Amino acid sequence: MKNIIILCFATLLVLSKQDQEASKESVQYYQSLLKYFLKNSSKWEKPKDSRKFFKLKNEQDEAVNHGHYHFIIVGAGVAGSVLANRLTESGKFQVLLLEAGGPENDFTDVPGFAPYLARSDFNWGYKTIPQNNSCLDLEDPGYHGKDGPLSVEYVKYQPEVLKIFLEAAKQRGQNILDYNGQNQNGYSTFQSMTRNGKRCSANKAFIKPAMNRENLELLYRALGVKIFIRNKTAFRIEFIREGKKYRATASKEVIISGGTINSP
Ligand SMILES: *[C@@H]1O[C@H](CO)[C@@H](O)[C@H](O)[C@H]1NC(C)=O
Ligand SMILES: *[C@@H]1O[C@H](CO)[C@@H](O)[C@H](O)[C@H]1NC(C)=O
Ligand SMILES: *[C@@H]1O[C@H](CO)[C@@H](O)[C@H](O)[C@H]1NC(C)=O
Repeated sequence: MKNIIILCFATLLVLSKQDQEASKESVQYYQSLLKYFLKNSSKWEKPKDSRKFFKLKNEQDEAVNHGHYHFIIVGAGVAGSVLANRLTESGKFQVLLLEAGGPENDFTDVPGFAPYLARSDFNWGYKTIPQNNSCLDLEDPGYHGKDGPLSVEYVKYQPEVLKIFLEAAKQRGQNILDYNGQNQNGYSTFQSMTRNGKRCSANKAFIKPAMNRENLELLYRALGVKIFIRNKTAFRIEFIREGKKYRATASKEVIISGGTINSP
């Protein structure tokens, strides 16, 4: 409990520091928001069956035709978001993007709360056995760009002790560096995937800027359940949304980006 309170306090500091005009009301708002979501997250139970969210009202009903597209993307996670943005850029292709989850909210905007989001309906709740061969590319001493749509920044809240800490490291002859750069051995301020202090998700970076394009249709709470294949080519998808079954057809590609476990 103590940790949670400290965490809340730290977050509030971050929020108010970054927006000097943060009113008392908005601090109170975030305080109760955090309290509510932390409490809700503590009650969360791992889902055992997706029918809790995607139950058909009538199993016998035929799938309703939802139309024809060039591309259908199943899953608006990181990969699906980037693809939806890029494929609608030229205006030449009609794209349907299906997302099983719902839209982001003010809580998902708060950085550093991923462990609580993991215990919420934003997460499928899968647990895998430990993997020996994952994330290996993180060990590559890679570089990164600076002007992409997905923003990474140094956290805004920089307490006095941070400066003292870094100064001490420098005096001991240690490198002060960008640990996502070529050389990763040294000291640094923490970097986070945020934009002006709020979480910068794939949704914010890639979907939001594309939302007003007429050739992109995004459906929330839509679960892809069947892929139709003809001549070794996927051409149709069936999905469940609001208790009903739908089908949509793609003349170019059906892209399955439903995550490591959900993608067949
Ligand atoms: C609170 O938790 C329950 C159970 O996990 C969930 O169904 C509900 O959507 C959550 N409320 C909000 C506002 O996220
Ligand atoms: C990982 O490696 C250990 C040791 O070689 C092995 O026992 C284990 O089964 C491996 N795990 C997986 C998921 O392959
Ligand atoms: C499937 O592919 C074969 C060989 O390319 C072709 O003759 C046939 O018309 C195709 N069938 C359909 C339904 O597209």
